[in-house]
Amino acid sequence: SHYPVIARAHTNIALIKYWGKANEKLIIPENNSLSMTLDNFYTDTSVQFSQSLTHDELILNHQLIDDSTRITKFLDLVRKRAGINFYAKVESINHVPTSAGMASSASAFSALAAASSKAAGLNLNFKDLSRLARRGSGSASRSIYGGFVEWKKGTNDSNSYAVSIQEHPIMDIRLITVILNRSHKRISSREGMKRSVQTSPYYDAWKKTTASDLQKVKNAISKNNFNQLGQVAESNAMKMHALTLSAWPDFMYFKPDTIKVINKVKSFRDNGINCYFTMDAGPNVIIVCLKKDSQFIKSNLSKTLKSDNIVVSGPGEGVKFLHKI
Ligand code: DP6
Repeated sequence: SHYPVIARAHTNIALIKYWGKANEKLIIPENNSLSMTLDNFYTDTSVQFSQSLTHDELILNHQLIDDSTRITKFLDLVRKRAGINFYAKVESINHVPTSAGMASSASAFSALAAASSKAAGLNLNFKDLSRLARRGSGSASRSIYGGFVEWKKGTNDSNSYAVSIQEHPIMDIRLITVILNRSHKRISSREGMKRSVQTSPYYDAWKKTTASDLQKVKNAISKNNFNQLGQVAESNAMKMHALTLSAWPDFMYFKPDTIKVINKVKSFRDNGINCYFTMDAGPNVIIVCLKKDSQFIKSNLSKTLKSDNIVVSGPGEGVKFLHKI
């Protein structure tokens, strides 16, 4: 059954961050993490295995990609499990609301896991899809599910996977992505977390504090307590970034505009608007707020930053199969 299979997966933003591996080859994390899947950033991926191909072929956003080593390594896992040795044609399109992009390995490997496993004749359940997506990129394990999701770190390949916490969030939460230009080459999250684990003297403290932060966020979700969720998410993100500042060689993801947005969030808060922020391995700031405040925050920020790369996202769905790309 070597017909093309198409899957769609949405990206996710961690409120409790994954930052460090206990096993680099298998991508087993040092701590559990917790995310929200977004509704308007997603990847559609089509995979077809075929006897007539002489190598894996990757087309990303209608462009042929020369180096598909990471995709081939991932597809090797699928081929091994399915017992096939055909190469594949992979076509992938990132759907993002603005021109500034923000491609995500989370949606990419989650969609690839679903499409490639099915195209290879496997019929994986959500748990096994999450385990497979994890091998491509850790954060991809969480994009299998919609809404609030927890990646249980586990100890080995079979028990490290994500689970759904609340697929349709009760909270009226919105994440506002403020997309800032990244002018120079950044340190990838893969490299950055490795350096943090190896050299930051604060790494043990990170593990301890993150375990308790995660409990607090789960509690906030179940009690529908937005302020508790926002406070803990903001604090957890800053503690992650403290690991980059305390590593050697030290590095940072903040840019001048990053600090501007952070200060804006704090002044909104001083003026009685409940909002918080989080940040990943780049200069973008993601504001955590309630739906009722999201349009005010967006328009106020776009004036001060003179930017139209500000996107409001609600909770999105988990991975699904499509009929056409
Ligand atoms: C800061 O999942 O991109 O976004 O497993 O090495 O591919 P690899 O890393 P990746 O790291 C994500 C880091 C983060 C936090 C998070 O999403 O939890």
